[in-house]
Amino acid sequence: MDNRPIGVLDSGLGGLTVLKKVIEKMPNESTIFIGDQANMPYGDRSREEIISLTRDSVNFLLSKDVKIIIFGCNTATAVAMSTIQKEIPLQIIGVVQSGALAAARTTDTKNVAVIGTNATVDSHSYLKEIQYRDPEIQVSEFAQPQLAPLAEEDPSEDIKKVVVKESLASLKDADYDTLVLGCTHYPLLRDEIVEVVGQDKKIVDPADQVAQYTYNVLRRDGLFAAEGHDTKHEYYTTGEAKKFTEITRQWMNDDTINGYHVNAEE
Ligand code: DGL
Repeated sequence: MDNRPIGVLDSGLGGLTVLKKVIEKMPNESTIFIGDQANMPYGDRSREEIISLTRDSVNFLLSKDVKIIIFGCNTATAVAMSTIQKEIPLQIIGVVQSGALAAARTTDTKNVAVIGTNATVDSHSYLKEIQYRDPEIQVSEFAQPQLAPLAEEDPSEDIKKVVVKESLASLKDADYDTLVLGCTHYPLLRDEIVEVVGQDKKIVDPADQVAQYTYNVLRRDGLFAAEGHDTKHEYYTTGEAKKFTEITRQWMNDDTINGYHVNAEE
């Protein structure tokens, strides 16, 4: 038994889509979330910057005595995870590996499309991880640099529709039956994405598999929290706490949430 919290990080609010699934799957577990909103988007940054910023958030979570760390960010997983995993004793769980597994299991035609940030697409992490599981699967990757900032701003429905349609035009002639939401911000735009790609495409949100995998790891390592312990959820941002709290309450469906500002570089 281990009552320490599960740590979840992202460049911004997208990681909440992962956190939500983790809490749904393991309601007895405490969690600590940090969104590095002051530095998002990570997707347009250099490898060095992404590693350094992710390391700051990891160190913040370590200072909070977490028992495991989930990178609720595809960009951080694709670019920084292998480097940072060598530096810390705790296990890191990334979203890309789970998303790749889910995609390989979901596709019938063996044609998968992945949308993600520039950095995730440039790393070809999804291509490698999916073909590692099934070399016959054809993977087409499409960078959508406009979409994470769009989800983060949470603008009107009309603006979301226009920007998503414009952005996804690059997929128009692609051949795929399964679309991976390869950025944790995209589930926040899921309805708009489905409207453009069509109901017939199968959508993979890696968060479901991440929650399942985290559950498996905690069970394997005897790390579940004790039944009846005092479960807590803490929310931190490197950005502005008021707006963060507002959106987090809305997305997590919980009006009791308070978000706090933190400077992860300290
Ligand atoms: N949510 C992040 C991801 O999954 C990235 C958004 C960004 O900061 O560019 O890739």
